[in-house]
Amino acid sequence: MSVPVLTFFNNKGGVGKTSLIYHLAWMFSSLRKRVVIADLDPQANLTAAFLDDEAIEKIWIAQAPGSTIFQCVKPLTGVGDISPPVLQRIATDLYLLPGDVALSSFEDMLSGQWPESMGDANLYRPMRILTSFWQVMQMAAEKVQADVILVDIGPNLGAINRSVLLATDYVAIPLGADLFSLQGLNNLGPTLRSWRGLWKKRLDNWRDSADEISHPEFRLPTGKMTPIGYLCQQHGVRLDRPVRAYDKWVQRIPSVYRTAVLREPEISDMKQEDDPYCLATIRHYRSLIPLGQEKRKPIFNLTSADGAIGSHANAVLDARRDFKKLAAKIADLIHLDL
Ligand SMILES: Nc1ncnc2c1ncn2[C@@H]1O[C@H](COP(=O)(O)OP(=O)(O)OP(=O)(O)O)[C@@H](O)[C@H]1O
Ligand SMILES: [Mg+2]
Repeated sequence: MSVPVLTFFNNKGGVGKTSLIYHLAWMFSSLRKRVVIADLDPQANLTAAFLDDEAIEKIWIAQAPGSTIFQCVKPLTGVGDISPPVLQRIATDLYLLPGDVALSSFEDMLSGQWPESMGDANLYRPMRILTSFWQVMQMAAEKVQADVILVDIGPNLGAINRSVLLATDYVAIPLGADLFSLQGLNNLGPTLRSWRGLWKKRLDNWRDSADEISHPEFRLPTGKMTPIGYLCQQHGVRLDRPVRAYDKWVQRIPSVYRTAVLREPEISDMKQEDDPYCLATIRHYRSLIPLGQEKRKPIFNLTSADGAIGSHANAVLDARRDFKKLAAKIADLIHLDL
């Protein structure tokens, strides 16, 4: 059995993916679910949310085998194999596989192995490399007996993200209420379908090959990438923009999500707030977000000693309720018992 992988993805940047994963990871762990967080964005923002600069610098300079996602896969760029991951324990039930700016150098390797994996022979190495993120994440989850793996990636449709997505069981799509987010959604649906289909061809090719017989222990991800819904961010709304402009885009989301991502017929009368595919509307938490970043805490754990007083204290309670509800909804969709 493999541990479920949930990836937050949109090829529109700045829609709150990293912030959402950070908070959801803390919420799952406080509900006693064991979480491995894998930072597969070479920008490593999620790693920076959990660890301070000194700790990250120490890890990056030491370049110890398995210490970051890149250090795990690096031997594959030569003649070696995956280095087992070394996780950072952030809290009880919360483990981080750190990101690495050097990961971007692995992109060319993944692009090169993609056609190789459709050849007639010598398929083991290309399949090992293309699934290396999944292999590493499963090793990590097995090591700490995790219930779920949460993954952050950058906002693009490149070879690193393709490898992450074929390692993904469930996809959640954070969106802003603007033209760019809707356009991102229009690109995302066909891309996910294409990657799913191309991965299936590779799995079939592998199963028809002699390599499968010589590597009976080799496990591969199924590449389901099932969309579980979208999250609508309010924080990206420009304060100088009229509310009408926000409404105009937000009310188009249910239809675009259905046509582009699910290939369901267009609907015209569904409001975003009534849409069952809308996992949550994420509030603009304003100054609570920088306060949480400064204290290196999820916003729902901020206390008066941290400076969360007055209206902030109420916002902390709201945030706890919001994220608890979101965690329960997502747990249900990915078949995780809370
Ligand atoms: N609910 C929120 N309320 C207010 N600010 C937020 C909220 N969520 C995220 N932000 C802020 O918005 C910015 C973008 O968020 P974040 O980095 O999580 O987005 P992202 O989608 O991961 O971006 P990228 O595409 O660059 O990886 C950050 O400065 C973050 O602190
Ligand atoms: Mg991010």
